[in-house]
Amino acid sequence: MNIRFDNAGVDYGKRTALYPLSLTLQERRIGIIGLNGSGKTTFARLINGLVKPTTGSVTVNGVDTVTDAAKVLGTVGYIFQSPQNQIILPIVRDDIAFGLKARGYDKAQIEAAVESVLGRFGVSHLAARRAHELSGGELQMAALCSVLVTGPDILILDEPTNQLDLKNRALVQKTIAGLPESVIVISHDLPLLEDFERVLLFDQGRLVADAAAAEAIARYRELAA
Ligand SMILES: Nc1ncnc2c1ncn2[C@@H]1O[C@H](COP(=O)(O)OP(=O)(O)OP(=O)(O)O)[C@@H](O)[C@H]1O
Ligand SMILES: [Mg+2]
Repeated sequence: MNIRFDNAGVDYGKRTALYPLSLTLQERRIGIIGLNGSGKTTFARLINGLVKPTTGSVTVNGVDTVTDAAKVLGTVGYIFQSPQNQIILPIVRDDIAFGLKARGYDKAQIEAAVESVLGRFGVSHLAARRAHELSGGELQMAALCSVLVTGPDILILDEPTNQLDLKNRALVQKTIAGLPESVIVISHDLPLLEDFERVLLFDQGRLVADAAAAEAIARYRELAA
């Protein structure tokens, strides 16, 4: 994985959500922390092209997120802060299949891939359930399956343990630890990021720390005090 920010910044009208910054991300586990409204989601959305930089550019494995947006979307999987917002079809199995249909897979290939991804995360029992009836943790797992089934190289999780109980939190943590993909996690759940190689701390739209987890988390605690 090679994500490059080259003087990339984001303004929403007159408000600057992210001041221009330049950096390269290559680590397999990257955390993003900071107070509410500090620019974390904006930063992450630049990576898959959901947000376009107002200044500068962002590339993923050399591909520009603006001029080659479709290619970037195929490389970067993104699980939203509220996963219910990304469920498209009512039944879990159909929702997971949706992204594969769009990629031109045939019926047998789709069925095999859906069963395989559900099995990989131990949630085959959710296949026939209605997505809107799932619990928060079940929904988080279903959203993970829907995104990973398409085979992204990089996965971005925006507050994946938000509102989860201890058991589901542990399940999501274990799942993240076992993923072969590169993972970028935005979280207010600091212990989740404790063993991450690199953690970025944002404050009021500025990157104020870029360090190993322990150091960045300590800086965050000072800032929030
Ligand atoms: N679409 C938008 N239009 C206008 N302002 C926006 C938009 N999206 C975000 N902002 C503003 O940009 C700033 C950064 O928002 P962002 O969602 O990146 O914060 P965050 O760090 O993810 O916060 P949280 O921890 O609450 O999720 C905030 O002030 C927010 O109000
Ligand atoms: Mg956010």
